[in-house]
Amino acid sequence: MTLVRFVSADGVSVREVEAPAGERLLDVAQADGQPLEGTCEGQMACSTCHVIVDAEDFGKLPPASEEEEDMLDLAAQVTRHSRLACQIFLKEEWRTLTVRMPGAVHNMQGR
Ligand code: FES
Repeated sequence: MTLVRFVSADGVSVREVEAPAGERLLDVAQADGQPLEGTCEGQMACSTCHVIVDAEDFGKLPPASEEEEDMLDLAAQVTRHSRLACQIFLKEEWRTLTVRMPGAVHNMQGR
């Protein structure tokens, strides 16, 4: 199991959800009622599943594919730690994963 922490865009609320390894982060987020559209259901055609991964956790994730990088270029409020939730599959060894919903970031550098 991985303990996933969903931080609201304003950083005020944090929801903790346990999910099994192999689960797709987008599915965990949607099941928890997080505001992630994921319109294309992981077909890499929308970028509405964009999340900002906590700086401490970002290095745990495998690098984004070129296709994911291209889609992230189209997402709003992208930061250095942005990823697409439809491309993140939980791994047992991560133990925890903290992601923030986009919205509280004011420029491309995340400042
Ligand atoms: S759900 Fe569309 S790119 Fe992730």
